Amino acid sequence: MSGERTFALVKPDGVKRGLVGEIIGRFERKGLKIVAIKTIRITRELAEQYYSEHIGKPFFDGLMNYITSGPSVAIILEGKDVVPIVRKMMGVTNPVQADLGTIRGDYAVFTGRNVIHGSDSPVSAEREIALFFRKDELHDYVRADEGLLYD
Ligand SMILES: Nc1ncnc2c1ncn2[C@@H]1O[C@H](COP(=O)(O)OP(=O)(O)OP(=O)(O)O)[C@@H](O)[C@H]1O
Ligand SMILES: [Mg+2]
Repeated sequence: MSGERTFALVKPDGVKRGLVGEIIGRFERKGLKIVAIKTIRITRELAEQYYSEHIGKPFFDGLMNYITSGPSVAIILEGKDVVPIVRKMMGVTNPVQADLGTIRGDYAVFTGRNVIHGSDSPVSAEREIALFFRKDELHDYVRADEGLLYD
């Protein structure tokens, strides 16, 4: 199995709405490995680094207020093709367009409160993992079903 990794974040609305278990359960049942997980209150400084690609956009200030409005749950997931798999499981940015069966399609109604983030490429994943986690917070282990998930 390849060690591809992605970064996912249950945003403050997802935490306050009690959706953490539901979301993590979907990732676990899919067969993705949880390499790291923690609750974190994102500061304005971290938020600006994390969403730096959106600086200057009309929704940026609202996005900063949203993402710092309460604790988030940060997760590192591992598996083959984990970056596109997690993006697909999240659904597209606007929950109105997100397919039913995806996290945003099932649990959100508005782009500005879309419950979850996932890295959009392996390069973004590496950058975001380094922003949120120290190396000693990542854990290496074998899932009991790994032999059934991969050939
Ligand atoms: N037009 C908008 N109005 C309000 N909020 C927005 C808008 N566009 C984006 N956002 C917020 O900014 C986040 C980042 O936007 P981006 O274009 O990177 O979408 P994404 O990659 O699907 O989401 P994320 O980066 O959070 O995983 C969105 O998830 C959403 O919370
Ligand atoms: Mg994005």
